[in-house]
Amino acid sequence: MPPSTWAAAPPPRGSAAITSLRNLIPTADIRLLIMDHMDLSSVVSAAKDFAETQPKLHGLIANAGIVAEKGSGGVWSQYGMSKLANILHAKELDRLYGPGGVKKGESGGEIWTAAVHPGDVYTDLSRNAMFFGISGLVAARVLNAFGAFTPAEKGAYTSVFCAASAEMEGHMSVGYFVPLGKVAKPSRHARDGELGMKLWAWSVDESGGKGKNLL
Ligand SMILES: NC(=O)c1ccc[n+]([C@@H]2O[C@H](COP(=O)([O-])OP(=O)(O)OC[C@H]3O[C@@H](n4cnc5c(N)ncnc54)[C@H](OP(=O)(O)O)[C@@H]3O)[C@@H](O)[C@H]2O)c1
Repeated sequence: MPPSTWAAAPPPRGSAAITSLRNLIPTADIRLLIMDHMDLSSVVSAAKDFAETQPKLHGLIANAGIVAEKGSGGVWSQYGMSKLANILHAKELDRLYGPGGVKKGESGGEIWTAAVHPGDVYTDLSRNAMFFGISGLVAARVLNAFGAFTPAEKGAYTSVFCAASAEMEGHMSVGYFVPLGKVAKPSRHARDGELGMKLWAWSVDESGGKGKNLL
């Protein structure tokens, strides 16, 4: 079995995840790869470390997220934009490197993408819903008490399905997945390929520019 690697930031949560997995599977080969998305140098070192030590990347769940930073626009509006960006990135990644991708094979393989909506899951995001003020926090806890949220262990199902299930196939690439592992139709904007291309170009400029001196 190829070694598995966990990416996490900061280390305490990653180490805790590794400990609980080792309790379940004592022989599991798991490593902590530290990647803080707010610090591009840590992302570049993690990618280099991975590429130097692993022959293949079998699956990547890009799950890190926050609701919003304080700033212009409402919290929901910023959050919605960030989720739209996630779907558009998956779409453009598929256009470039997916099964019928225009750059497929350039890096020696093809990439299947999936944009996942995990459902309403009770995680730290909802547990600490302070971004909506104290009323948001109370509302989240009351809703959870009434069973409105899925527990985190079950909420992970769709992401794990897309990354690891034998039922996930190439023709399902670029799908928008909802619980439990079902394909759904995303919003009109999320289906806008041109918007995806523009966002991709902007992202390359932004992160490429800032990351150049790190490579
Ligand atoms: N919960 C839901 O109902 C729901 C619904 C739809 C979509 N989602 C999305 O699912 C994803 C996971 O959220 P969650 O609900 O599982 O919330 P969560 O428990 O708060 O998990 C978010 C994860 O992101 C990590 N993270 C935050 N900032 C980071 C950074 N700068 N670099 C690297 N990692 C960072 C956090 O790490 P630390 O805790 O170690 O800082 C944490 O492990 C998010 O993108 C969220 O928008 C969640």
